Amino acid sequence: MTQRVLTGITTTGTLHLGNFVGAIRPAIAASQEIGVESFFFMADYHALIKCDEPERIARSRLEIAATWLAAGLDTSRVTFYRQSDIPEIPELTWLLTCVTSKGQMNRAHAYKAATDANTAAGEDVDAGITMGLYSYPILMAADILIFNAHRVPVGRDQVQHIEMARDVAQRFNHQFGGGQDFFVLPEANVEDDVALLPGLDGRKMSKSYDNSIPLFEGGAKALKEAIARIVTDSKLPGEPKDPEGQALVTIYDAFATPQQRADFRAALRAGLAWGEAKHQLFELIEAQIGPMRARYAELMAHPERLEAILQEGAAKARRLAGPLLARAREAVGLRSFVASAAAPQAGHAKAAKPALPVFKQYREADGQFYFKLNAVDGTLLLQSQGFAEGRAAGQWVARLKREGAAALAELPQQADLAADPAVLNAALSALQQAEAG
Ligand code: TRP
Repeated sequence: MTQRVLTGITTTGTLHLGNFVGAIRPAIAASQEIGVESFFFMADYHALIKCDEPERIARSRLEIAATWLAAGLDTSRVTFYRQSDIPEIPELTWLLTCVTSKGQMNRAHAYKAATDANTAAGEDVDAGITMGLYSYPILMAADILIFNAHRVPVGRDQVQHIEMARDVAQRFNHQFGGGQDFFVLPEANVEDDVALLPGLDGRKMSKSYDNSIPLFEGGAKALKEAIARIVTDSKLPGEPKDPEGQALVTIYDAFATPQQRADFRAALRAGLAWGEAKHQLFELIEAQIGPMRARYAELMAHPERLEAILQEGAAKARRLAGPLLARAREAVGLRSFVASAAAPQAGHAKAAKPALPVFKQYREADGQFYFKLNAVDGTLLLQSQGFAEGRAAGQWVARLKREGAAALAELPQQADLAADPAVLNAALSALQQAEAG
């Protein structure tokens, strides 16, 4: 089965080399694997939580989109979009919000960090904290669940959010899935060896530490200047140097082949001057980043091309998000008054397929699980007995779809054949044909 891989980048700033090595490059590499279907997006709704400068948000989403493409993303293989172009995401966010416990959100790292800082400063615990920050993990869960992603490559700081997405998915599955797994439970992928590119001072490369190396901004000149500022020890040219634990060497590793890594270490042990080592590091990175920077400049000069690519990406994403949201709405009871799930509400899944009879699974007050089959016009065709397990009801539905009327004979006796057998048989064979595709 294909694995769906999904990740987003919050569009609040300009990307640095650490974002490239830790997020963009591995994501693009993963998208080229066979059997992987990738979803990459600009998390611009998340950006609104952290930033109230419209110009900065606008600029950042443009830059980040251009960066993905300049780095070699092939949009014919992946689904590439802006979060805010997918209205199904905030709509699902609300459905998920209604099954998320407040206590769990109280424990989210980002929120706790903010309340801890307030407490330490002697302020009201929630001073300056928006509902956006508080609900951040639910929006993120919707990002992931709307596409039923299996794997989510993220930095270590985001792992808790993926766990929360799993919990929310599980709760929804339990309450509304009728024993079936409505949502896939996503897993975080943390790539330890690449996730933490050190910055100029050896700490994790981060905008907030002011220790980052720009990716494209400022051109080759800025790259060279930043590399010149990488902190090393004070060993003189000719003195043997210990390469291990040096930020310079770790950054070199991120761009080098195993042979280059070994040669670089040997040269440092043999006394290579730090100045010369920095020059080699610059040459190595520039050879890879330089051509991307040229593509980036070209794209930034043509925002209309980016817009067209992203509009296409949004349409592709919505073809999946629409039907899933329609099912989620059905599941929670937001249904058409004319009982036919095969004709989803306007605005969702507009596929012009012929309407089909519809199976519905649900739970009654007696705690048992049931299913029924409705004709396109809503007439009841078949009403099942109660099952103790939701799964059993689900299995019957799956079997009736697969085998059609042939499976009817084996259906437990109590089932109520509400319709003329010929009508029922015709409905089942229509479904069977649709199922066989
Ligand atoms: N919160 C993530 C970050 O700040 C960005 C993000 C938003 C994301 N939605 C996502 C990442 C869904 C992975 C999946 O890094």
